[in-house]
Amino acid sequence: MQRRPRRNRKSAAVRDMVEETSLSAKDLIYPLFLVDGTQKKIEVNSMPGIFRYSIDKMLSEIESCLKLGINAFDVFPAYQESLKDPIASESYNPDTFYLKALREIKKQFPEACLMSDVAMDPYSSDGHDGLIREGKILNDETLVILGRMSLAQADAGVDILGPSDMMDGRVGYIREMLDENGFSDTSIMSYTAKYASAFYGPFRDALDSAPKFGDKKTYQMNPANIQEALIEADLDMNEGADFLMVKPALSYLDVIRLLHDNYPLPIAAYNVSGEYSMIKAASEKGWLDGERAMLEVLLSIKRAGAKVILTYFAKEFASLSK
Ligand code: PBG
Repeated sequence: MQRRPRRNRKSAAVRDMVEETSLSAKDLIYPLFLVDGTQKKIEVNSMPGIFRYSIDKMLSEIESCLKLGINAFDVFPAYQESLKDPIASESYNPDTFYLKALREIKKQFPEACLMSDVAMDPYSSDGHDGLIREGKILNDETLVILGRMSLAQADAGVDILGPSDMMDGRVGYIREMLDENGFSDTSIMSYTAKYASAFYGPFRDALDSAPKFGDKKTYQMNPANIQEALIEADLDMNEGADFLMVKPALSYLDVIRLLHDNYPLPIAAYNVSGEYSMIKAASEKGWLDGERAMLEVLLSIKRAGAKVILTYFAKEFASLSK
């Protein structure tokens, strides 16, 4: 035999030397769920180890994550039903608890990278990411609301806006609004290829944000499609996005690879709630080794071409590698 690939696997030292992909806490963004009030830390039923925090508790959580080497956080708000309306007006109310919390986080931890979510669903009484008239999602009218929301978040000190709504033209619209209002340093991480996925289930539990009727298939992508991701990526790239995101991650590793190979922008992948909960549930049942499964999954996303990974495993990963 001329070639014996096993020679490069013969010891840990050799294996480490030839390892092609590495993962560090710096690659990760930790999504956090915020609720109104104080002294609240409530576990999400379908996401063991993940909590909804009131701002005071969230600040200490962020502090402990920073000590572990996690530098980036994506905060999602959970609103009570009584604050929701058809036009998501709470999303740009300057006194709303989400915007106040973002401001507070940035003030206390200016060095941390703070990301926010731009979409109507947490504030919409319809539970959709767009404005609705006669059962239809109105694209261009939704942009106006997304623009207001983006400005309010940028003003609160957010470093990276994450439009997760999948309306056409929103990256360009938001970019222009930001630039016109003096926020040319605020970045956009576009949810470029966001699929209509079953794996968002636990997240919608966490935020009570499930659509009240129908599904999100007229705006989120069909899981059967990959060519279409190139159209979305082209648009986002040309409209000024700073990062392109693929979401979910695991069933879409091919999409991550495709965008990585075709676009010079950093690719992000969202290892979503359902992907987290599957591993947690199986490991609670003793059906697989949760820690090894986590490491393998995160590595696979990086290997596929993601530079940045949004993951609920961030803290657990960082604690292990400390
Ligand atoms: C909302 C939004 C969703 C997620 C991030 N932003 C849910 C959805 O589109 O219904 C999902 C995140 C996850 O499942 O972890 N626009």
